[in-house]
Amino acid sequence: MRFPIDTNDRKPIGRSGETVSAIGLGTWAIRDYRRAEEVLAAAPSYGIDNIDTAEMYGSGAAEELVGRVIRRVGREAYFITTKMLPHHLRSRDEVLKAARASLRRLGLPYVDLFLIHWPEPTLPISTQVRNFEAVYEEGLARYIGVSNFSVREMRIAMESLKSAEIVVNQVHYSILIKEVEHSLLKEAIKEGVTIQAYTPLERGEVAEHPVVREVARKVGKTPIQVALNYLISRPRVVAIPKTERIEHLGEIAGAMGWRLGEEDIKLLEECC
Ligand SMILES: NC(=O)c1ccc[n+]([C@@H]2O[C@H](COP(=O)([O-])OP(=O)(O)OC[C@H]3O[C@@H](n4cnc5c(N)ncnc54)[C@H](OP(=O)(O)O)[C@@H]3O)[C@@H](O)[C@H]2O)c1
Repeated sequence: MRFPIDTNDRKPIGRSGETVSAIGLGTWAIRDYRRAEEVLAAAPSYGIDNIDTAEMYGSGAAEELVGRVIRRVGREAYFITTKMLPHHLRSRDEVLKAARASLRRLGLPYVDLFLIHWPEPTLPISTQVRNFEAVYEEGLARYIGVSNFSVREMRIAMESLKSAEIVVNQVHYSILIKEVEHSLLKEAIKEGVTIQAYTPLERGEVAEHPVVREVARKVGKTPIQVALNYLISRPRVVAIPKTERIEHLGEIAGAMGWRLGEEDIKLLEECC
């Protein structure tokens, strides 16, 4: 499947008409919350305006961290995504209770985007997304979406909602793990769903691949920048790497503002 190269560093959120930077920042497995706070607070000055967090990360500590960053820098500087654990999806009441707990930790009346972290295996997809839709209907999220949903699950989710639309499917997508390109990405482009690519650096492993390194040498960028640029060159794709080091933030932000050529993209498509 060939994808047209998307040269825009602002990516649409579903069909909302709203855009976010092509690179956002994740908050999973933070080791040093003080350093992570400095990175997230500096992100807007590097052109990065979206943060991904979840109820699960640090058992709530990551949402609290994001709350501190928002209070420090300003609410308008960020598009905030958080994610709900699937066991809350059994009823609308449980959904609303869990959502309010996330909002309390974030110190917000509502988030920009709430996602189901992964499908709840004991419930039909239609039931869980309809229960989850309560967060939109009660004004606790401006948009809703899913994470780790297959093409089939995403289709059912889209068809089951009554008042909201699925704007995002957050999935594992990196230069080394490209399953998404075989079906989900095509469907997302067709349906106007944004793909948030998680673990886009494979925890740094992408920088070791010989072809990524060779392309990086050729284009005068770092392997990390090549690996991220490959992802954001796809229509509808926002990459959400995680870092708690300012020097890594600079390198990550430097993946925007330019694009790999068609030949290099083809090489990277086929290499890994
Ligand atoms: N929906 C889901 O199920 C799901 C699953 C996994 C992840 N996520 C989200 O996606 C985010 C990113 O995924 P991830 O944290 O799994 O993995 P990742 O972003 O691929 O890798 C993060 C690791 O890469 C290192 N790193 C960052 N910038 C670097 C650079 N320039 N050079 C070398 N190493 C660098 C970081 O270390 P330093 O901190 O030291 O820079 C960190 O250890 C998560 O934080 C989370 O928000 C979602």
